[in-house]
Amino acid sequence: MTARLFQPLDLGPCALPNRIAVAPMCQYSADDGSATDWHLQHWMNLAMSGAGLVVLEATAVERRGRITHGDLGLYSQANALAMARCLAAARAVALPGTKFGIQIAHAGRKASAQRPWEGGRSLQPSEDAWPTIGPSAIPFAEGWATPAEMTEEDVRHTIDLFVKASVRAAELGFDEVEMHMAHGYLMHSFQSPLSNKRTDARGGTAAKRLSTLVDLAQAVRKAVPKRVAVGARITGSDWVDGGLTVDNGIALAGALKETGFDFVCVSSGANSLAQKIPTGPGYQVHLAEAVKKATGIVTRAVGLIATPAQAEEVLERGAADQVAIGRAFLDNPRWGWHAADALGFDLPRPPQMARVKPNLWPGAGYIRG
Ligand SMILES: Cc1cc2nc3c(=O)[nH]c(=O)nc-3n(C[C@H](O)[C@H](O)[C@H](O)COP(=O)(O)O)c2cc1C
Repeated sequence: MTARLFQPLDLGPCALPNRIAVAPMCQYSADDGSATDWHLQHWMNLAMSGAGLVVLEATAVERRGRITHGDLGLYSQANALAMARCLAAARAVALPGTKFGIQIAHAGRKASAQRPWEGGRSLQPSEDAWPTIGPSAIPFAEGWATPAEMTEEDVRHTIDLFVKASVRAAELGFDEVEMHMAHGYLMHSFQSPLSNKRTDARGGTAAKRLSTLVDLAQAVRKAVPKRVAVGARITGSDWVDGGLTVDNGIALAGALKETGFDFVCVSSGANSLAQKIPTGPGYQVHLAEAVKKATGIVTRAVGLIATPAQAEEVLERGAADQVAIGRAFLDNPRWGWHAADALGFDLPRPPQMARVKPNLWPGAGYIRG
């Protein structure tokens, strides 16, 4: 029988050849939001990785919604053209059936930061910092800029920017778009009681905190053509007392399903430095499992899933429908080939590389653990 990992999956209208997704991962290498040669080689590599779905990194809906100066954006025609160039090259070398998705994002109060390798802290004025926005005027952490509290008009305008960027992505030919509603960025900060202290219609109760995310989802689903799968990365836990729990993740996933969203990817954390995350292999899988069981929406698990056997086990026991793998793909952009070998699946490789036989040399089993 075909391993679960290599069985096809429908994300709504998007027919995937297998259940492996490359997780969205910022490369901090864009030029005013536009993809560069770094993205060209990176996406071309991932296109041949064996993953059925390659999700491109968090892509900002406006310039001030970037985390760093190096983030991708889809807020200008120049951004769209640069992305079209790299996407066309990636598609040209992709393994048959490979689909491409993109994460649409606004960094909110975590915007205007240094690249991770520059320190990852809030930018200083000398570093061309910019003003940030959020649900409440509460900084992410000590030493971070205080965001301006958004007005209702700001919220509606920002939702409109998410719609515009998502439609642009659909026009560029992406098969899947996913809204970033996790990791402490703008949408997560509206959902979490740690960052949303509003007393208007967008704060005060769990339902009111959720309303901004639901309004966004409705607007995006309405505007994006039906041939494109639409979903979100959501929070399964803030890992902080008094923060979001898996019940909030279930409530969000249920609401997204009602708006016509096709899937969720369940992540967690990154909205507070007080978080206590029990990291370890598959540490977020139980959150995905709870969301899937409670809502029935197509669910992707992510987080320290790194070996083919581990990924297969998550699917085999029905904890999730799909797995996303991040760092293991950065380490080895042929991860999918090795997973196919390990699980006995005949994955077509580019004919130029058909003579590769990993078991011809010692040490080739390193990926299989
Ligand atoms: C370099 C890097 C960049 C990342 N950028 C994003 C991003 O753009 N959007 C996002 O939702 N998560 C991002 N993440 C988190 C990953 O998508 C993933 O959830 C996380 O790395 C856990 O999966 P892993 O253990 O397989 O790497 C990033 C992670 C890394 C290592």
